[in-house]
Amino acid sequence: MIVELRRSMLDPRLSVMGFLNEAVLRYPSAINFGPGRPSERHFRVEDSLQSIERFVAHRAKALGWDHERVFADLGQYGRTQGIIADLVARQLAVDEGMEIDPASIVLTAGCQEAMALVLMGLFEPDRDVLLVSDPTYIGITHLAHILGIAVHPVPTGPNGLEAEKVVEAAEAIRRQGKRPKAVYLIPDFDNPRGSSMPLSARKALLAAARDRELLIIEDNPYGMFAYDGPPEPTLKQLDPNGGVIYLGSFSKTLFPGLRVGYLIADQEVDVGGRRTPLAEELAKIKSLTTVNTSALLQAVVGGVLLDFDASLRPLMKDKLPFYRANRDQMLTSLEAHCARFEGVRWNRPRGGFFLTVELPFEFGTDRLKLCAEEHGVIVCPMSFFSLGPGTDKEIRLSFSSLQREQIETGIARLARFIDATLGAC
Ligand SMILES: Cc1ncc(COP(=O)(O)O)c(C=O)c1O
Repeated sequence: MIVELRRSMLDPRLSVMGFLNEAVLRYPSAINFGPGRPSERHFRVEDSLQSIERFVAHRAKALGWDHERVFADLGQYGRTQGIIADLVARQLAVDEGMEIDPASIVLTAGCQEAMALVLMGLFEPDRDVLLVSDPTYIGITHLAHILGIAVHPVPTGPNGLEAEKVVEAAEAIRRQGKRPKAVYLIPDFDNPRGSSMPLSARKALLAAARDRELLIIEDNPYGMFAYDGPPEPTLKQLDPNGGVIYLGSFSKTLFPGLRVGYLIADQEVDVGGRRTPLAEELAKIKSLTTVNTSALLQAVVGGVLLDFDASLRPLMKDKLPFYRANRDQMLTSLEAHCARFEGVRWNRPRGGFFLTVELPFEFGTDRLKLCAEEHGVIVCPMSFFSLGPGTDKEIRLSFSSLQREQIETGIARLARFIDATLGAC
């Protein structure tokens, strides 16, 4: 039987990352700057599982239950909003200085599910438009395409999203009779560009969004990976007006196999003349998708947080020198091998997993394959992450999961590819 897929699934943009995965499988010995994965050397998976006991003891005490009952409860269907919101709120207070009411937190199956809940819960596909910083994380743009939600790319500069560009885009959308509902961005150590927004740009964006009743969806999986001093305050921290929905994840700070993330939605909604918390309404969708985030995996995260007095900073202490050294290695290798090429430039990310290189020629799927096949290095065309023009000559390099020697070898190979391509142009 031939089954008809939903039309939005046929969008060719959805298969763009397939090229990258195909290249990885076909050229297993190539050095791979493609995936934005955390390094496994810091996962502590076994140790983290031991922390469940700690969480169980904590919960037993809090609820006045014995351990057996707490364990049985972890095996049962659980509360839709999750069981560790109080610990997540404490972690955000300790590590980020954010005062968050635990009732506004929904624990999700990774931050990816948080995006799905926000898009499904807030957007009328025939009327509402999602603005995104462009290029951006395709997890949100592809999901919006599948859900039939229109996405409007707002081009970013070296310092991320600019308020004036968001205003221009919102006005253009309104002129078309549509409603700009929210703008999605990653203000800290952005995926894919590695850029960060300065404080003044954050304040300007908050003011512009407030004046235009535009919600902000702030995604912050990399904020703890700051290599040159603390990051700027989050948009959520700077916003007293409830204009920001915040998305968080333990995938990078702990490990992605947990599939534990969360959203913070402290806004209210009007349901038939009655005000209710947005978090509760979004949780209703979750009750129909994943029902609840695995209580066992929340117990792992909860236990780890309890082990470290609700802070992730002690764990980051081990990780940061590794990631910083990788970032520095990539910058050193680029300087050594690529500075001689006219028109090759790169940014210096102050944190996160990614760096952008501008090339003097276009780099798409053909060159991705050629580079992997003939030079043994895989890099990601920036255009994979973009809905607008202007990124055809950029590539994204991830430095997060490689050894320093691999980074040096990979950049030397990239330089040979650039040399060969310039010679052939
Ligand atoms: C910007 C951004 N948001 C969200 C995610 C997904 O996070 P999670 O593993 O929590 O679903 C990623 C993963 O790479 C990401 O880069």
